[in-house]
Amino acid sequence: MAIQWFPGHMNKARNEIKEIMPQMDVIIEVLDARIPYSSENPMVSALREGKPVVKILNKADLADPVMTEQWMQYLEQESGVKAVAFGHDKAAEVYKINELCKKLAPHKVGIDKQLKAMIMGIPNVGKSTLINTLAGRIVAKTGNEPAVTKAQQRIKLDDGIMLYDTPGMLWPKVENENSGYRLAATGAIRDTAIDYEEVASYTAEYLLLAYPRLLQSRYKIDELPEQDWEFIEMAGKKRGCIRGGNQVDTHKMSEILINELRDAVIGRITMETPEMREREEVVVAQVRAQAEAKKAAKEEEKKQRRARARKNRR
Ligand code: G4P
Repeated sequence: MAIQWFPGHMNKARNEIKEIMPQMDVIIEVLDARIPYSSENPMVSALREGKPVVKILNKADLADPVMTEQWMQYLEQESGVKAVAFGHDKAAEVYKINELCKKLAPHKVGIDKQLKAMIMGIPNVGKSTLINTLAGRIVAKTGNEPAVTKAQQRIKLDDGIMLYDTPGMLWPKVENENSGYRLAATGAIRDTAIDYEEVASYTAEYLLLAYPRLLQSRYKIDELPEQDWEFIEMAGKKRGCIRGGNQVDTHKMSEILINELRDAVIGRITMETPEMREREEVVVAQVRAQAEAKKAAKEEEKKQRRARARKNRR
């Protein structure tokens, strides 16, 4: 399953971020606490220029609290990184972000000084909601569909911080197929672009391993099966998802599973761990290296063909 992405948009965002980055003191990166790896945008680390980063694990009310704690510790191992988690009810705690920014750029704190922070995040991660909470008023549009375009804007916060919303649009990870499934399962990708049965099957496989008790209790299945498709069938029967010929309507059950995962009614679930990230990054690096080697070999072949053609013309 491929994530739709547009290199043109990506390049535009990259150039705009590159231009504005030298002025920034701190980066605020908004991640989805259920998928802190897959909701990263690779541009943040590539264009960061060693600047300190506050990583926000947003939607933590939907994520497994034990895993959120693990992720925060893992992310803070990187130098210059501080992590903080927020759920739906963030208004009372949002001051922590300002405090972290000031801690990370103390030379920009004081009378007549202004700390510049750029907030970055892939669509639907909750960036607009966070900006509005930080500003204490509605300055960014929120919505239930990933946004399409956004103009760059500056928001003056009360205590000497100027917040810059990311120009352009940041895409999620496109190289890792697992990330594609997790982004789809959690709702970061438009529903029109996903195959429910495929995503539900990936989700069921993971949940059977990582959260069997939550599945047992939500779908009232005492003995869980080993295979994801067996689980979808069993749960479908329990839920009365039956079509003609007494067959289980697997599509309907797949939709139910994904929607109940997104609403956290199965329980608070995190779809990836730091160990999974480490393992998958190795594979992604291999795939990238293979693609680069293939591209280089093609270029070389082209060069040689051109040289041969030149020689033949002489
Ligand atoms: P974006 O700018 O990054 O694209 O995201 P935005 O703020 O528009 O938020 C996307 C969705 O995520 C919104 O829901 C928003 O309410 C929800 N959201 C933001 N922060 C949190 C959080 O900490 N916890 C939970 N559970 N949800 C959060 P929506 O259904 O698209 O819209 P609405 O129902 O809020 O209107």
